[in-house]
Amino acid sequence: KTPVAILLSGRGSNATALIDAARDPAFPARICLVLSNKPDAPGLEMARQAGLPTRAIDHRLFGKDRAAHEHAIHAALEEAGAKAVCLAGYMRLLTPYLTNAWAGRMLNIHPSILPSFPGLHTHERALEAGVRLHGCTVHLVTEGMDEGPILGQAAVPVLPDDTADMLAARVLRQEHALYPLALRHFLTQNPATAANSAALVVA
Ligand code: GAR
Repeated sequence: KTPVAILLSGRGSNATALIDAARDPAFPARICLVLSNKPDAPGLEMARQAGLPTRAIDHRLFGKDRAAHEHAIHAALEEAGAKAVCLAGYMRLLTPYLTNAWAGRMLNIHPSILPSFPGLHTHERALEAGVRLHGCTVHLVTEGMDEGPILGQAAVPVLPDDTADMLAARVLRQEHALYPLALRHFLTQNPATAANSAALVVA
């Protein structure tokens, strides 16, 4: 099994989905570290309860020094023996230092069908735009925000009376299905071609 680290900032439901998937002996990843920039993130407590190694590296202790914060994260990832990293609701922009250090080995899940709606408030923006399909994307992390090669996507319908919360919940269910699927796919494909093997799931 490939040692994979998870970075999160909050609730950790996608981290839970990855951790649960990795319990299967046939899943190609084992979670070697769950790391958060927020010491009080519920996802970190969840991982502790699951018996996994956790680290909190509080960005507030580094002031404006993003580079120092990312060096500390990188050191923790290396120390844990991570060979790949999954961002799962990690809500800080990364600098080129970390994206370069983990180029081709860092995945992110984003709550829209990229390249539509990069950034925040994706569900509100999807409703405003009037799209009839919305969803989520797992992609490799590059320097540009939400821009890297797509590994997998899932789509859900936008229903007439949807609120942003209802739509978010429908997408989130698909995130939990897609992320383990895309990670499995990524780890078992030739890395040189993995970026071309996107899967579309219509729910
Ligand atoms: C998820 O919906 C994820 O796609 C999104 O944050 C949520 C985290 O939930 N990520 C981003 O918006 C990244 N910019 P979780 O902590 O329950 O997995």
